[in-house]
Amino acid sequence: MKINFILNDEELTVDLDPLFPTLRFLREEKGLSSVKTGCGEGECGACTVILGSLDNGKLKYRNVASCLLPAGELDGKHLVTLEGINMTELSPVQKAFVDEGAIQCGFCTPGFIMSITGFLLSSKDLTKENILNAIDGNICRCTGYYSIKRATEKILLAAESGFDKEDRINSLAELSIIPEYFGSVKRRLNKIKNNSEKSSIITDPREAPVFLAGGTDLLVSGPGRPGPEVRLISDIENISEIFEDNNFIHVGAGSTVEDIIDSEILNQYVPGISDFMYLISSQIIRNTATLGGNIANASPIGDLSVLFLVLDAVLDIKSENGVREVLLRDFFKDYKVMDLEAGELILKMRVPKYSENRFFNFEKVSRRKYLDIASCNSASSFCLDGDVIKRCDLSAGGVAAVPLFLKESSSYLTGRKIGEETMNSVIEVAMDEISPISDVRGSSDYKRELLRRLIKAHFVKLEGWM
Ligand code: FES
Ligand code: FES
Repeated sequence: MKINFILNDEELTVDLDPLFPTLRFLREEKGLSSVKTGCGEGECGACTVILGSLDNGKLKYRNVASCLLPAGELDGKHLVTLEGINMTELSPVQKAFVDEGAIQCGFCTPGFIMSITGFLLSSKDLTKENILNAIDGNICRCTGYYSIKRATEKILLAAESGFDKEDRINSLAELSIIPEYFGSVKRRLNKIKNNSEKSSIITDPREAPVFLAGGTDLLVSGPGRPGPEVRLISDIENISEIFEDNNFIHVGAGSTVEDIIDSEILNQYVPGISDFMYLISSQIIRNTATLGGNIANASPIGDLSVLFLVLDAVLDIKSENGVREVLLRDFFKDYKVMDLEAGELILKMRVPKYSENRFFNFEKVSRRKYLDIASCNSASSFCLDGDVIKRCDLSAGGVAAVPLFLKESSSYLTGRKIGEETMNSVIEVAMDEISPISDVRGSSDYKRELLRRLIKAHFVKLEGWM
């Protein structure tokens, strides 16, 4: 595939397999050694780079893990490594790390600098919480983190003076946080976009393509190929949009987990959804991992699948015959078997807008609170009339071959009073609905015990909310 993009200040056209990991391209073909190879699985942040793309005419930057970034995603974008922000003097971000002793061996440092600079370039507000979230995927084995935390506070102070949220690029250049050439990137990307004929990744029309969104799961096991022809979906128009109409919130399949966190509409109708999203991986992955990818992956423990199962979500699925809709609850058939034919693409998910006051909760147990795959997860949605349950929807992951909507348990709760008796009895109903297996994340008995506790957690939080 021909890939046209800007690498730091250089316009490039390269011919690469669209699934080739960007990290390997940067180190092996461009000799950019600031980008470190650590885990190769998105867990350490040593390979962090910044990716800029045009989104509805706006230049949007995000920090991403280059080890899990397929080269095909670079097309039409601005890729920035530490070499691309180095200037004759240290930037305030780099200087704060030096001044606060936040560098020892230095192996992790380029990744931290890129995550923080990417955060300053992004559309997020400059708050202590946000800057720490930006580095939640960057691991340091030496410093003990307090010096890094002090450095972030100093960076915020430096950035706040003279920072213009509406004109980030120019104000960050004036603060010497990024080089001046960033000011010309939007114009140059527009030119690349206009000149570039979209080269099709599909070379053999007889082969139905495998659609790939994000690729953060696929690239963990190396640039494996899920099928002979792979089509990255990120250049499909409007595939990453989140918008509302009278009845639904529409979430494009290409929306990333960070897009969901930043969506005011979703946060309004699904209270607390952002907080639950922070339990999913780290920002450098959340900036690439997509809704469509998480659903089509069909992992029985998929966080987004389990979460949206209790929200009556509907999938719009496109094929050459048009668009058909499938309830998310009916989508998962068996282990990694879905109601999705070869060549069909999940276009978006629609979440109904309820007018009723709802309690919504998501629980997850994993060996580590963050950056880990759940052993068991569960979501709940309750509508109440006083202390009587008018409607409840419960789901669970890691306890069956698919992300499971707990149909019997949900209907059992309808019309019952909130209380210990109801909670204990619905747990028994749920135990009959699940069929966990023993695996690397725990024994079958352990997972049963986890779900018992997660259902209790829903009830405890529900009573706190009432
Ligand atoms: Fe560890 Fe990429 S090498 S996150
Ligand atoms: Fe050594 Fe962070 S300074 S890993």
